[in-house]
Amino acid sequence: MARWAYVNGRYLPHPQARVHIEDRGFQFADGVYEVVGVVEGRMVDREGHIARLLRSLGELRMAMPVTLAVLDLIMRELIRRNGVRNGHIYLQITRGVAPRDFKFPKNARPTLVMTTRDVGKFATPAQLENGVSVITIPDIRWLRRDIKSVALLPNVLGKQQAVEAGAFEAWQVDGDGMVNEGCSSNAWIVTADGTLVTRQTDHLILAGITRASMLTLAESAGIKVEIRRFSVAEAYAAREAFLSSATTFAMPITRIDGRAIGDGKPGPVARRLRSAYFEVVCGQPS
Ligand SMILES: Cc1ncc(COP(=O)(O)O)c(C=O)c1O
Repeated sequence: MARWAYVNGRYLPHPQARVHIEDRGFQFADGVYEVVGVVEGRMVDREGHIARLLRSLGELRMAMPVTLAVLDLIMRELIRRNGVRNGHIYLQITRGVAPRDFKFPKNARPTLVMTTRDVGKFATPAQLENGVSVITIPDIRWLRRDIKSVALLPNVLGKQQAVEAGAFEAWQVDGDGMVNEGCSSNAWIVTADGTLVTRQTDHLILAGITRASMLTLAESAGIKVEIRRFSVAEAYAAREAFLSSATTFAMPITRIDGRAIGDGKPGPVARRLRSAYFEVVCGQPS
């Protein structure tokens, strides 16, 4: 099946989809993005992702190039054209094309591009059976991580470090030894007494849309939740750990820095939230 991309008002065959070399996204990382999961052909948590996109644009004083109704139509059309069943849609908006100059250009039209990916299965049987491992690394990012900016170099380096260490993700840790979040996911633990803990959202982490849904699901399941920072030491001693994102949902973590977490098997809270997310948010059997 031909693969399509969307670029500024046009659906183009994926190999021909391009933007200009003076696009500010290319030269300054002056742009924002969103990744919305697609489960059985339907977008998941779409409203939350669009709300966060509008917030990111607002924080950078960038304009939304199309109405929200049109944005929605384009997203649906691209998913339809590409026949996406299980995967995600990626959308990116930059401040547009202008002669290279740091200050905002006067008359640039924002660039809007979208691509999709079908992943087939969201996790391998081994990941679900055994969980994944993470390493911890220093958080070297800027101080506005709440903006979903395309400036992702520290995240790229962190993820590469994880892969080279045989791990799935790297948890970025602040100067006090507290876990901020992963390179493309939020971080969670379950303490020895069964309390689910995830960090509060502020300028120092991205307010994950999956995180917010998981919190609602945890509350309705009667799980005790604490929204607070947790240290690497606390994570090593946790009963369970997991990560969340629009493309991984709740993914159990069974090793941190090579140490087994809990009994070294995916824990019941991560499993339960993963199933609940599929059933309640995606409307699909898990
Ligand atoms: C740094 C970071 N934190 C958290 C997340 C999870 O956010 P969401 O659940 O909205 O995908 C992401 C997703 O890409 C991310 O890049």
